[in-house]
Amino acid sequence: MSTDFSIPSSIARVLLDQAAIEARVKQLADQISRDYADVDQLILVGVLKGSFIFLADLCRHLSIDHRVDFIALSSYGQTTTVTGEVRLLMDVKANLEDRHVLIVEDIIDSGYTLSYLMRSFLTRSPASLRTCVLLSKPDRRQVDVQIDYLGFEIPDVWVVGYGLDFADRFRTLPFIGELDPQVYTNE
Ligand code: IMP
Ligand code: MG
Repeated sequence: MSTDFSIPSSIARVLLDQAAIEARVKQLADQISRDYADVDQLILVGVLKGSFIFLADLCRHLSIDHRVDFIALSSYGQTTTVTGEVRLLMDVKANLEDRHVLIVEDIIDSGYTLSYLMRSFLTRSPASLRTCVLLSKPDRRQVDVQIDYLGFEIPDVWVVGYGLDFADRFRTLPFIGELDPQVYTNE
């Protein structure tokens, strides 16, 4: 069954359609399955809320033993402005010591969120720690963070859909679209 989605008027253009996302997520999962084939057990840590759809699709394509856990972080503020301050709202349940950990994130922008998370997880002595990020805006980077698995590089625009939001809206659009700047300049 396919659902017809009309494109909301707040979307300036579609950057990545459903088929492009599906194909890339499958490729990433295949690569992860190969790379971790000899590993005892992989723990995927999804960063809430933005990664929940990406993670759900990614993990269902994995052919290796894995567990799923979540962490919730928040950069201060509701809008598109990044302040560089990161708050831990909810920690993982799993003990990460001696575990192979893969952080799954929706998007890397300044890099502050992932860099904070990497530093925090490294103090827990995981057996290995890598990152899997669906989208990257390279022009916006303030801190250098290693991305081991990357879906797509995108230009410096605010994107929504496939888990990504603006003020908690637009997360369940099946594609990734550029938000019309009027939506955030008017708020
Ligand atoms: P950072 O600047 O790399 O720390 O990214 C902070 C967070 O901002 C990301 O995890 C996303 O949740 C969010 N973010 C950054 N750019 C976008 C975007 O274009 N759309 C939706 N969320 C974004
Ligand atoms: Mg996020």
